[in-house]
Amino acid sequence: MAGLSFYFLSNSILVVHLVHYCQSRLIGPNQPIIATAGEDITLPCHLVPGVNVAAVTLEWTKPDMDPRFVFLWRAGQDLINVKNPSYIGRSSLFTDELKHGNISLKLSKVKPADEGRYRCYIPDKNEEAFIDLLVASSAVSSPDISLEGIDRDKTGVMLECKSEGWHPEPELLWLDGEGNHLSAGPTETLRGPDDLYTVSSRVTVEKRHSNNITCRVQQRNTNQSRETHIHVSDEFFELTSSSAPVIIGLAVSLAISIILILTGVFYIWRQNKTNVRRAHCDACKEQETTTPLNPSKFQVLPFWLCNAPAIFQRLMNSVLAGLIYKTCAVYLDDIVIASPTFEQHLVDLEEVLGRLQAAGLSLKLKKCQFCLDEFTFLRYRITSSGVKPDLDKVKVVKEFDTPTSVKHVCQFLGLHCKFLVA
Ligand SMILES: *[C@@H]1O[C@H](CO)[C@@H](O)[C@H](O)[C@H]1NC(C)=O
Ligand SMILES: *[C@@H]1O[C@H](CO)[C@@H](O)[C@H](O)[C@H]1NC(C)=O
Ligand SMILES: *[C@@H]1O[C@H](CO)[C@@H](O)[C@H](O)[C@H]1NC(C)=O
Repeated sequence: MAGLSFYFLSNSILVVHLVHYCQSRLIGPNQPIIATAGEDITLPCHLVPGVNVAAVTLEWTKPDMDPRFVFLWRAGQDLINVKNPSYIGRSSLFTDELKHGNISLKLSKVKPADEGRYRCYIPDKNEEAFIDLLVASSAVSSPDISLEGIDRDKTGVMLECKSEGWHPEPELLWLDGEGNHLSAGPTETLRGPDDLYTVSSRVTVEKRHSNNITCRVQQRNTNQSRETHIHVSDEFFELTSSSAPVIIGLAVSLAISIILILTGVFYIWRQNKTNVRRAHCDACKEQETTTPLNPSKFQVLPFWLCNAPAIFQRLMNSVLAGLIYKTCAVYLDDIVIASPTFEQHLVDLEEVLGRLQAAGLSLKLKKCQFCLDEFTFLRYRITSSGVKPDLDKVKVVKEFDTPTSVKHVCQFLGLHCKFLVA
């Protein structure tokens, strides 16, 4: 009989221990919680089996933060004073759930800065659980692809892709028409004050890449992804394969046209100064009929950079049809408009702008220059007195000391030849 009662006693002690042990388990999620900035979320944490915890101290902290308290529940109260200021008014418990041992935290208007590891802790039981929070940005922009020019060494077209508003930091991929990865330059990442990332990358595309290029920006952890396609037309590659003669030819024809017109401008300006208005009009008509480049009425030189290849394509092929080499010249994404008189220039400008507007295209104002009489184009300085080398490049030659030795002469010649080659 005595042996039997001993058996019962030890069994009940065992049961008490088991129950105590089970009550102490705090359970959090196995996976990180993924939220989108601005939304309200719940960070789950509960006791198994559930017991009433409404009267015990409950802590929610973010250990890497100072002060670290996200929420502190003591003696049935939310102690706001100890909270980190950035969580005041944003964190709460589901008080009705406390009696079931559910101490999940409600966090409203999540921000990128809320991201990180949270600790759910019951000091009395010395039980803790960790919850990882990832906050995806809601401001993600679709990538913008722009044409950066022609890579002469590789005879390809350089494209740049840029996308803003990401969080966490995304990766940027270039794909060809068959979905193969293109090897691109390094991805440049900028982190803004609002914790959002801007990424950009450049790639050189060759004709064999089947022309349909995709820029994809993705964040694997948050499953966010955006992509933009661009169709690089064959005309680009024709430009690249014959790049040198085309560029030189274009430069020369533009330069000549521009000089002729600028001479006209200078002439007009002088005439205006001496108040012989009629004479100037006759003179410019005369000049118009005597110039060998009669159809191209160039004068004033606004210089536009339209940064989108799609725009460029449409400018080239349809939007400016009939105007190219008449009132304007287009080289890649630059448009130069030139006219014989200022009045005519306003008309030409309006026509080109009207065409762009009708096509729904827009220009970046800071990339436009209007009504110039001198500017640098394709490494030449275009002025009213002729085409000159770029002054910066000539400066070194100009400032060279008079050579006094053979070595010095060679140095000078080397420099000079380098310039001529350039
Ligand atoms: C805890 O409470 C929240 C809010 O009511 C609820 O969404 C969650 O499912 C609860 N957790 C458990 C384990 O009951
Ligand atoms: C380019 O490829 C993408 C998929 O990679 C496809 O969705 C898109 O329609 C293609 N565009 C053209 C013009 O072929
Ligand atoms: C992301 O998407 C994949 C497949 O579409 C899915 O298996 C995975 O669970 C998603 N992850 C998240 C965090 O939503």
